[in-house]
Amino acid sequence: MKICMIGSGYVGLVSGACFSDLGNMVTCVDVNKEIIEKLNRGIIPIYEPGLQELVVRNLKKKRLFFSTDISSSIKKSDIIFICVGTPTKNNKAELKYVFNVVKSIKSNLNRYKIIVTKSTVPVTTGDKIQNMLESSKNKNKFDVVSNPEFLREGEALRDFQFPDRVVIGTSSKKANKIMKRLYLPLIKKGGRYFHTSRRSAELIKYASNAFLATKITFINEIANLCEKSNIDVKEIAIGMGLDERIGGRFLRAGPAYGGSCFPKDTRALVATGRMFNTNLSVVKSVINSNDKRSNLLLNKISKIMNNKIKNKNITFLGVTFKPGTDDMRESSSLKMIPALLRKGACVNYYEPTGKKKEFKSKNVNYFENVKDACKSADLIIIHTEWNEFKQLNFKKITKKRNFKVYDLRNLYSTSEMKKNKISYFSIGR
Ligand SMILES: NC(=O)c1ccc[n+]([C@@H]2O[C@H](COP(=O)([O-])OP(=O)(O)OC[C@H]3O[C@@H](n4cnc5c(N)ncnc54)[C@H](O)[C@@H]3O)[C@@H](O)[C@H]2O)c1
Repeated sequence: MKICMIGSGYVGLVSGACFSDLGNMVTCVDVNKEIIEKLNRGIIPIYEPGLQELVVRNLKKKRLFFSTDISSSIKKSDIIFICVGTPTKNNKAELKYVFNVVKSIKSNLNRYKIIVTKSTVPVTTGDKIQNMLESSKNKNKFDVVSNPEFLREGEALRDFQFPDRVVIGTSSKKANKIMKRLYLPLIKKGGRYFHTSRRSAELIKYASNAFLATKITFINEIANLCEKSNIDVKEIAIGMGLDERIGGRFLRAGPAYGGSCFPKDTRALVATGRMFNTNLSVVKSVINSNDKRSNLLLNKISKIMNNKIKNKNITFLGVTFKPGTDDMRESSSLKMIPALLRKGACVNYYEPTGKKKEFKSKNVNYFENVKDACKSADLIIIHTEWNEFKQLNFKKITKKRNFKVYDLRNLYSTSEMKKNKISYFSIGR
């Protein structure tokens, strides 16, 4: 099939490359010329394991193309995926990028096409897109389908190629048949194809993300209780997770959830609730609890340091919101590092995906390896759960005698740390 992905970020690029690998002719479009120039040379602008090889392979096979020419890319395609960002604006999903794309589609609708929203968009967005495209000239020339994306950064290729489910929202039999054909190779591998209404598909995505954010927030609050009652939250998570109705995933206590999806999607869902006069009080309180979490951890840091943060060297191991990605959007480090700087700390950090331009203060230093970043540390904060932070010999990597470790990911055993006489603090233990 001839496919056009509009927006070549995490979602558009990964799904475009994967669709081309399944034998489709795919053009990934972006307004950002620099991204497209790089991609045409096989250079990947984001960090995503395995993506480089996949893109280069399909570029060579001449079934994956990158372009800034939105008009011709739309005209030559049968299925147009909208994959642009839907960031938060005034606590709602900002849809101007989506609607700009729809305007381009409208002026290039030369024959029947399926217009698919892969971007996460609020309930009724598909209806609005349909209204925008409708005209006497465009009769029977399009169907608007919702096909939310569930991939996770860091595991995006595997998630796309082996999905738990493919959700397709449309009332058009024709569009459903074509979408099912497109996804058939993935369904054959065990992915469940779920055909539903367009509005349902839109809400499934938000409800799923809000539920996962709720699970994380729930265990984070239980961790707060564990810290005060001398209980290990890891044992609570195991005990809870063994109940199949609950399941153990997303029950890992840690810092506030971040990333490009949960913070914005929970807010957008509350806004959808407002639109339909429905009070989503659980989601609201999840947002509220998560917003407060970085401050709670900062207070703990003050306590660990006996309220002496000024002129102390604090090292962050990892600054992204999770391992396997270079995405900094809404990472808790963006709140924690500036707050520590305001208190007079000197922050050093090591980040496996490289230097981050978000930290510009003269009191923030990037190091290219764990050892150099930790050498002068008074406090080491394990912020992101990269594998390379899981077996560190703290006494060897730091020269300070009275250094402390604050492990926000519970990577180490408290008893081992005690045995090694390391002043070690973690979450919910
Ligand atoms: N990142 C994820 O893990 C993830 C997972 C599932 C769903 N989503 C959803 O997918 C959507 C895209 O997310 P992302 O992380 O890929 O965003 P992104 O910011 O990485 O990429 C969006 C791209 O769209 C481009 N763009 C904007 N306007 C354009 C236009 N008019 N024409 C062509 N290109 C244009 C931008 O230049 C950018 O490169 C969002 O709605 C997001 O919520 C993201």
